[in-house]
Amino acid sequence: MGRNLAVLTYGCQMNKYDSERIVGILEGLDFQLTEDLTLADMILLNTCSIREKAEQKVFSQLGRLKRLKEGNPDLIIGVCGCIAQIEGDSIFQRAPQVDLVFGTLNIDRLPYMVREVEKKRGRVLEIAEDCNPDIQSPLTFRESRIRAWVSIIQGCNNYCTYCVVPYTRGRERSRSSSVILDEIRGLAEQGYKEVTLLGQNVNSYGKDRSDDIDFSELLSMVEEIDGIERIRFVTSHPKDISVKLMYAMRDLSKVCEHLHLPVQSGSDRILDMMGRGYTSEEYLSKVDRLKSLISGIAISTDIIVGFPGESDDDFKKTEEILRKVEYDSIFLFKYSPRPETLAASLSNHVPTDIKEERFDRLLMIQKEITLKKNRDMEGGIEEVLVEGPSKKDRKKLTARTRSNKIVNFSSNRDIKGEMADLKIVRGGLYSLDGEVIERGC
Ligand code: 5AD
Ligand code: SF4
Repeated sequence: MGRNLAVLTYGCQMNKYDSERIVGILEGLDFQLTEDLTLADMILLNTCSIREKAEQKVFSQLGRLKRLKEGNPDLIIGVCGCIAQIEGDSIFQRAPQVDLVFGTLNIDRLPYMVREVEKKRGRVLEIAEDCNPDIQSPLTFRESRIRAWVSIIQGCNNYCTYCVVPYTRGRERSRSSSVILDEIRGLAEQGYKEVTLLGQNVNSYGKDRSDDIDFSELLSMVEEIDGIERIRFVTSHPKDISVKLMYAMRDLSKVCEHLHLPVQSGSDRILDMMGRGYTSEEYLSKVDRLKSLISGIAISTDIIVGFPGESDDDFKKTEEILRKVEYDSIFLFKYSPRPETLAASLSNHVPTDIKEERFDRLLMIQKEITLKKNRDMEGGIEEVLVEGPSKKDRKKLTARTRSNKIVNFSSNRDIKGEMADLKIVRGGLYSLDGEVIERGC
């Protein structure tokens, strides 16, 4: 009889991708996935430490799991991901109910670690500092049958002064193009239509290897794979996005017209303190170039409000950049000091109420922009990839435009996993409504 496994995933796509790897490996050990924590024989928390709040969530969940373990002493509780990588051993002190702690680079060792925990019924800890991304076990479990993430580069060399990622994910390590292409060919054979190439900074792809294949060239190679209809990628660092990549986005028909380009702040003074390596003017000139080269490109971004020392004037510059770029969507964050990072030791931390005010203000501005942009799409025709029933209304289907917008629509055929043309009849804040246009002969 198989055992039940629950995996709780916090944070970014990289963690979601890692959770898929974890589930795939553990399914191979006869575990089956459950969402019901009370039925689980093992619960793994794949954690995020990007902001303090994410960390607090994990420790309050561990508090709840402690009670579960009191009723079921055989329950195995594991902590992995970014908090595990940084905190290591100290997690056992803070949460003695935990049996297993492993880092972001130790996932492939899971069969061994689980055996150890079961054998010893004692604590197991593994935190590696380095690994070879080309010898990771193949990913055998994926949440979607239509869209898949494919890791192309792990880690980050940028050391932005607020960010903990270089400490939790290590230095940049690109996977070899042949390993990546084999994985994508396999996905195409299984019927996947869309891949998202994943990395903390995909534009650095290949810089740490000697095979002379950069990110644009990798995109051209993925374009050649039959069966894959759409290619996306995240995340791009504005300082590294090259004209060559812009041309590749323009010329490769499968590469979707959407770019996530985190600006973080509109103030040059703050950008400099963040160590981002570009000015607002340089950023805007890249955005202009992208818009003029790639018709209909959607741009999204990340913004941090309340970085230490951010004045009203600095904040105004962020407001300005929002209005100048007219992003399709933004991810907003309140600055959160992280251990080991340079920014945490700066003076002049911005009070919480000001961070909240600035956060709300940007949210309001962006809502107006997003709504206007989505309304402007009304009457237009969009090619979409159909993902399945809509979460809000099971009678409807949900699909995604090339520019990464969600469209809900009715159809009398189940066309999940297919491409379709939709006429946009309503643009809302969070999604669009569409109507099917039969593809003519
Ligand atoms: N505080 C707030 N936001 C942060 N991010 C990264 N580190 C921090 C921090 N210490 C945000 C950045 C990044 C996104 C993934 O998370 O905007 O692009
Ligand atoms: Fe963090 Fe900067 Fe690297 Fe992004 S580029 S992961 S913000 S250090």
